[in-house]
Amino acid sequence: MDRVLAARRATETERPTFKPLHGRSITKAEASSVTRTVGNDVREALRRPRQGTVDLSGSWPLTGHLFLRDLILGRDPRRLRVLMSRTLELTPKLTWSVIAAGAALPGWPRPAEHLTGLGNRAAAAKGYQERRYAMGIYRRAAAPVCFTVSTLVANALWLGAPFADGVPNRHIIHESLRLLPPSWNILRNASPEYPVIDARIGAKDDVLLLPLLSHRDPALWDDPDSFRPERWDHLDPEATPGYLPFGHSSERCWGRHMVMPLAELLLDLIRECGLVVDPHQRVAKVPLLGLLGVDGIRLTRPS
Ligand code: HEM
Repeated sequence: MDRVLAARRATETERPTFKPLHGRSITKAEASSVTRTVGNDVREALRRPRQGTVDLSGSWPLTGHLFLRDLILGRDPRRLRVLMSRTLELTPKLTWSVIAAGAALPGWPRPAEHLTGLGNRAAAAKGYQERRYAMGIYRRAAAPVCFTVSTLVANALWLGAPFADGVPNRHIIHESLRLLPPSWNILRNASPEYPVIDARIGAKDDVLLLPLLSHRDPALWDDPDSFRPERWDHLDPEATPGYLPFGHSSERCWGRHMVMPLAELLLDLIRECGLVVDPHQRVAKVPLLGLLGVDGIRLTRPS
């Protein structure tokens, strides 16, 4: 895996977040600027004092998703925030219809100080085509923050809650990313470098790399199937062979620095008020979809 991923950079269609949109390439410069914008929005949301008590009991990852959406994008107009609806996940056609309608309807939002940076990028778009594209970018950038981070925390809760006092959230997150990595596969399309690395790879073979498997490989991990956050006391997540929840060191995920504090905040809030997974819940589903995550966890207050 290491040699395949180091052999060349991901192409624009292989990259997860900024694949071409409506057939239009997203340049590295634009991807970087959008990532910086959403990163600033996340930092700003984390700096804001928390108002009142937060109740994160309920069904996860939905509850975490709605919390993150309101925390980070709460000031944006409904037309943009609706792009974070989980219903849109049902079919891409639904997403594109909502985007087409949103771009065409009168009353497009105007840039304003109270909007997020991401919201202001969209608000600056002029004309139907630009607005449609801007809504697509908004969804592309906000979805990994809301959908993926809430999924990651739901996975951690299912795997390990209630967590022992003194176990750092960061270790819980690394361990959850190991056993249930939301990005469980990494695709590389056929490329001349690959048959040179391993003769079993044919010239026309695409290669699917599976962190889900390397994260549980007994040759790489002690007690691979157990949830043991304390293993991260001595491991560096950026330099552990076969550990690829954010991709390979040659082109690691640009968003990981905003993912970690958000996931830590959610875990802090959950641990502070002692929420636990409903003790009656013994089974949960992990649908094998693009994003690997446990669905329908019930988080409750201990009775
Ligand atoms: C829990 C949340 C996330 C996970 C698990 C995740 C996972 C990954 C993985 C596995 C890769 C490598 C893909 C490959 O090599 O083909 C990647 C790359 C990338 N991610 Fe993330 N990601 C997350 C959140 C984000 C966020 C919030 C953003 C920004 C809005 C982001 C932006 C990117 C970009 C731009 C790349 C491509 C890097 C490059 O082309 O060099 N990610 N991510």
